[in-house]
Order: sequence, then C-alpha cells, then structure tokens
Amino acid sequence: MTDMIDEPIYKTDALIAEDIDAYLETHQHKTMLRFITCGSVDDGKSTLIGRLLYDSKMIFEDQLEALQSDSKKVGTQGQEIDFALLVDGLAAEREQGITIDVAYRFFNTEKRKFIVADTPGHEQYTRNMVTGASTADLAVILIDARKGVLVQTRRHSYLAHLIGIKNIVLAINKMDLVDYDQSVYDAILKDYTEFATSIGITAFTPIPISGFKGDNITTLSENTPWYTGPSLIEHLETVEVNSATDAEKPFRMPVQWVNRPNLDFRGFSGLIATGTVKPGDAVRVLPSGKTSTVSRIVTLDGDLDVAVAGQSVTICFADEIDCSRGDVIALADNPPQAADQFEATIVWMADEEMLPGRPYWLKIGAQTVSATVQHPKYQVNVNTMEHLAAKTLDLNAIGVANLSTDKPIVFEPYEANRALGGFILIDKITNATVAAGMLHFSLRRAQNVHWQPTDVSRESHAAMKNQKPAVLWFTGLSGAGKSTIANIVEKKLARMNRHTFLLDGDNVRHGLNKDLGFTDADRVENIRRVGEVAKLMTDAGLIVITAFISPFRSERDMVRSMMAPGEFIEVHIDTPIAEAEARDVKGLYKKARAGELKNFTGIDSPYEAPHDPEIRIDTTSLTAEEAAEEIVRRLIP
Ligand code: ADX
Repeated sequence: MTDMIDEPIYKTDALIAEDIDAYLETHQHKTMLRFITCGSVDDGKSTLIGRLLYDSKMIFEDQLEALQSDSKKVGTQGQEIDFALLVDGLAAEREQGITIDVAYRFFNTEKRKFIVADTPGHEQYTRNMVTGASTADLAVILIDARKGVLVQTRRHSYLAHLIGIKNIVLAINKMDLVDYDQSVYDAILKDYTEFATSIGITAFTPIPISGFKGDNITTLSENTPWYTGPSLIEHLETVEVNSATDAEKPFRMPVQWVNRPNLDFRGFSGLIATGTVKPGDAVRVLPSGKTSTVSRIVTLDGDLDVAVAGQSVTICFADEIDCSRGDVIALADNPPQAADQFEATIVWMADEEMLPGRPYWLKIGAQTVSATVQHPKYQVNVNTMEHLAAKTLDLNAIGVANLSTDKPIVFEPYEANRALGGFILIDKITNATVAAGMLHFSLRRAQNVHWQPTDVSRESHAAMKNQKPAVLWFTGLSGAGKSTIANIVEKKLARMNRHTFLLDGDNVRHGLNKDLGFTDADRVENIRRVGEVAKLMTDAGLIVITAFISPFRSERDMVRSMMAPGEFIEVHIDTPIAEAEARDVKGLYKKARAGELKNFTGIDSPYEAPHDPEIRIDTTSLTAEEAAEEIVRRLIP
C-alpha cells in the first residue's frame, strides 16, 4: 500500500526531521476546513473517509488501538495498516453511534487541517445531518456512479443548502465500477445540475472519484484523462472557508462572558462571528444601543492590533458602558436589529411533536430567551421538496413557522449571519434540545404594535376594590373536584366582599375556546388563552379562580411567569385516579375505558402533577367545604 502515500506527506516528514520549529509554525497557521460527507447508505462514505485518513496518514492512536483490538492482522503504530480494515473499523464505529450523534474525524495535509463530520444516511437521521452541517464550510455529496441521483442525494443537498453551506462537492464515486466511463459521469452531472438549480444551488464542484481505488483523491487519476478539474484533496485544500468570507462582513461579536478579574480590568469575551475589529474602532452594544471605542483586544498570547471572524478575544472599551453576557458588540454605524417576532425554518429533533404555543428556551448566539412557536405555515417534504399543510412538526420534520420571544433579541437573517440567525429550542422541563432553526426575518407587525400605556393603572384598579389581585390556579384530573371546590371558594370570597371571577374549563370551552379539543396541542392553546384572560383580569384588580385540568407543567409555569411574583397560587386538587374514576360524575371515565372517548386525561393522555404547588388538597381526607375553607384561609389569613 506504500504506493498510496503521496509526495506531500514525504515533504512534511522531511520538514519535521529538519526543523521542528518551522513545522510547528506552518502547522499553527494552517486554516481549518470543516466539512460533512453525506449520501445514501451504500454510496461509499466510510471508504472515502478511510481513504482521506489513510492517504493523509492521519490515523490517530486511539483509532489505531480500537482497530488493533479488532484484529491481530493490524500492525503496531507506525507500521503499515490495512486499508480495508481501517474502513471496516470506521463503518462499525459509525453504526454504533448512529442514533446518537455525528462522528467527527480529524486529519491534516501540508496545507490545511480538516474536521469531517460523518453523518448517517437514512431519512430518519435528518437531525444528525443538520447537527453535522451546522458548523460545516463544505459538504461532499456522494453519489454511486451506478445508481445516479437518488432521493437521499436530493434530501442531503436540500439540507446542506438550507443550513447555508455555500461549497458543495458532488463526488461521483465508484467510477472504477463503471469503467471510468465519461458518459456515465456526464449523465449524472446533467441530472444533478437540473435538480440543484431547482432548489437554488447556483454552484457546485463535481469530481469523478473512486474512494476504494484512490482515483482523483489526492492526485489526478490516469483513469479519467477526460476530467480536468482538481482532485478532491486539492479542492478541499484551496476552497475558501467560511471564516474568510465572514471576515468581510460587518463586525459582530456575541458576548459569552464578562471578564472582570479586578477593578482595573473589564473585558468582554466571545468568538467574533463576522467582520474585523481594531483598537480605536467605534462600537455599539446591543440591544441597549450604547456606544464606545475599543481600547484593547486581549488574548492569552497578548494584545492584538486586529482581530477577525473566527477568533476568540476579549474586548475592552474606553468607557464604562453597560454590557453583559448575551449582548452583541457591533460596528457603531452598522449594527444588527433587535426584534421579538420572526419567521423561521425549524428542524424538529425530538421524539415528542412540537407544541405550538408552548414556551421553549430559545438560544441564539449567547442569548437565551423564552419563545413560543405558532402553527407551522407549512412543512417541507424533504424527499420531494413539496410544501405540505401541517398542524405541528414531528421528529425530523422541517417546517416554516412564526415565533415570538418574550423579549427582543439581537439577530440577523441566517443567510447573512449563521451565528446571529441560527438558534436551538430547548424543552424547559427536560432540558433536551428539541429543534434547530434559522431566522428568516422579523415580522413587521412586531415593530408596529406598541404597548399602549393606560392612565388608570392596575394598582388603582386593585385599590378601588380594596384588594390584592391573585390567581388561584386549580389543577387536577377530570372529576377531581376542581369545579366544586372552586365554586365554594368563590362564594366564600364574595361573602367577604372580594371581587372575584371564576373561569371554569367546561364553560370556557363553550365560548372562547369552543374551537379546541383535547389533543396535547389544543390543551396547550386552551391554557395559554386562559392564562392571558386571567392576566387581564388581575390587571382589572380581580381575584381570579381557574378550574382546568391544565395537565402540563410547562403551561402552568408559563402562566405563573406571566403574573407578578406571589400573585399566582397553584392549587393541586389531588385526587387519585381510582377515586376520580369511582366517582365518575359525568360518566366520562366509563366512556374512555370503553374506547368511546380518546385522549382522556389519566387514561390515554398524560397528567403531570405539580412538584411544589402552593396548596395541595387531598380530597380523600377533606370534604369540599373543608378544602374551600383551607384555601380561603391561605389566601386571606
Ligand atoms: S385541559 O386539559 O385543556 O385543561 P379542561 O379543563 O379545559 O381540560 O377540560 C376538561 C373537561 O372537559 C373535563 O372536566 C371533562 O368534563 C371534559 N372532557 C371531555 N373530553 C375530555 C378528555 N378527552 N380529557 C379530559 N377531559 C375531557
């Protein structure tokens, strides 16, 4: 296999032997290219990656060890290892990690360092591919020359384009198996060009290769004299990386943390997303809009005269202006916008479907805010690129929807700036990442709808009623006794001259919420609306009592966060399901058990009991009257 090792490696070896300092120097200043390989299952991804690692002699010791333990045939470090075995090892490793993540592999040549994200090919792993692609400069789309453009080729190209990868290599592989026939290559190229144009890919680099035989990988192959472009490695070594194009954009740096070791030093650290910055530059901190001048750019290796996109630095200002984690430092006269309503593309990555209206954490740059997504405008069929109507998004689905955040975020469209336009959504209860997304633009209505200040304040509304507003939020199973107890509580409060209003599930569902059923999504929307109404009623100075199953912690917490501190009192009417079912006042449990009623809480729809409610009522030990008394006593001691 020694004939596979190409000349540049010898040069590198010679350089190491001659002058280790010179080697380290060139190595340190090499640019880094991150790329992904994608294609359908048998297109030869493992072989190609094995080939790249093999030809660049970059098989790391741990990989070597893993491979050696598999087979005695493999030599020790520094000795020749068998190419086929290497490929098998890589494939096995990827299969094991397949459902979890993306395998990242490292290698380098004389000119560049490389990180390649190896992602699974099956349709159900859209999310893995999106994860791998999110940091990539380039995508290698592999095609089996015998099979041509497949559904997976189209899907992966679409995803790569969606993620904003500007450099696409179409590696038409297994050319050895079609006798290096140019007409096969030309036909595939024609097919792919047609498709690529239709989804907006304007340029790509086609290369005929054989990962197995090594044709056109490091050097041009004699087997394809008709091909005049670069070899794959040559192309990877010279193609422009994102940080080079990012450096030409206006300066933006999300602040990851504030560095204040002592009173004399205050710096703001982060990774420069785009542009360049120099001491003396006028900058603006967003969202506050305060301006200052850069006094120093500090790094572990000393101060810099200039810093560019892709570098991690600490920036000091000439003035003591406010700036904290999550803020964005930008060019003073060309700053990004802030907004709180957007249109976005969302790739759903969780097993549980997206719930429109549910608050999720949204992380973008160094900012974290609470966000809710509306019903999708459409979902994209990633195999045909068709737009389909959709009520929600399931695992691996891609859709377009509007979303709103609880406070303005500094952003740029994803197309212009991946760091300030790409976000993830996180489930507030489980902390799992449930989606990745790309902001398109902010909605104009966000800028045109302002909060209208009113002269009669919520305090004066409450003062006129001589009471403190509150929400007594009852939660519990159907038949737990919520409505009964809530009704007695309201009567007692009325007798004490309190101004109250009772919102009851069954009643509200006859009017305001008559368009909603009992799917998870509809329940989320039910509680969101009731929460908003309860909020308005507390603004009017009322004591609001609500009686809804409100089965999800997320939405109860959302309503809690809408109210003033201490105003939201969660009352868990804690009746075991067996007890509620035995009472079966409305005969609904019987119907649900008979299968005549779907999505019934506690039977085939979940109920998440509160962990730490303000009040817990055990209805097996208290009568409704006693329970009501207890609640009123806690509200008005
Ligand atoms: S919630 O889950 O969205 O909070 P809500 O309290 O408004 O529910 O409505 C629950 C009431 O609707 C129950 O008390 C019951 O009378 C009725 N109902 C009808 N179908 C269902 C169902 N599938 N699950 C639960 N309650 C149902």
